[in-house]
Amino acid sequence: MTETTKRSLILDTDPGQDDAIALFLALGSPELIVEAVTTVAGNVPQPLVTENALGLLALADREDIPVYRGCERPMLRDLATAEHVHGPSGVDGAILPQPSRGAEPEHAVDAIIDRCLASGDATVTLCPIGPLTNIAMAIVKEPSIVPKIREIVWMGGAFKETGNTTTLAEFNAFVDPHAAHVVFTAGAPLTIFPLDVTHKALMAPVHVEGLEAFGSPVADAAAGMIRFYEKHDVDKYDIVGAPLHDPCVIAYLIDPSIFRGHTAHVAIDHNNEGSIGNTYEVEGGAPTATVMTEVDADRFFSLVIERIGTL
Ligand code: RIB
Ligand code: CA
Repeated sequence: MTETTKRSLILDTDPGQDDAIALFLALGSPELIVEAVTTVAGNVPQPLVTENALGLLALADREDIPVYRGCERPMLRDLATAEHVHGPSGVDGAILPQPSRGAEPEHAVDAIIDRCLASGDATVTLCPIGPLTNIAMAIVKEPSIVPKIREIVWMGGAFKETGNTTTLAEFNAFVDPHAAHVVFTAGAPLTIFPLDVTHKALMAPVHVEGLEAFGSPVADAAAGMIRFYEKHDVDKYDIVGAPLHDPCVIAYLIDPSIFRGHTAHVAIDHNNEGSIGNTYEVEGGAPTATVMTEVDADRFFSLVIERIGTL
């Protein structure tokens, strides 16, 4: 595999234990190059999400990867966070090392814009795994980045599946539905990993034990974070393990055959407080996204465990 056949990506994230696993999966996969990490307020506020991203990269000995601090709050709505799921640190279950460097001086929105404008058409892969605020702000500020985007691969939304924040809305969509509307209507190639598929990627105890078997600092941190993070969903849904939402985005880039979906014209309620953040398919509309609904869970978890074991 040559550098040119590797797929580079910008990871836009609100760490978040499942965000951390997604980052580790990307770092452990030779098919991918993490060009940059941009942070967005979501699971926990800024500056915590930025500190977490810096700490995770320090733990993985990848402080060569630049981190850009992004938006402090959604485009219109007040920020809603999820400490009740992720703990006050956002990455409870692991103690991260102090990073030896800080975030880059450029704002994440400007970094996304600058990297897109410096790239060829249809070459940039954006992987937002939190609220879409940074991506939407970049598109609003500089619409000429859209042709530069090869694909936006987002974890978010709930279509036929019940929401996890309201009965209709998934967290990333609920936090910033206006940003999701901007991204849904921007015209960039869009692939969505909603709860419809991520709720089928439940990490069982045997998978966590598989991580612990490596005995490495990164794998131990991953296992510890999952053990903390799964408590909420196991209690809430009476299931055997936590859905590993965000890593689905990265696993898809490594091996798309692990997933199946369909194209649809997608939309989001961003005006009606009663159904805010509800994502849905518009019957008969021209397709605007690929919506993933199925996952080969065995292959998915084998990939996650194998790749994190290499760090
Ligand atoms: O609903 C799950 C999503 O919300 C994941 O991205 C998780 O990290 C939280 O941000
Ligand atoms: Ca996330």
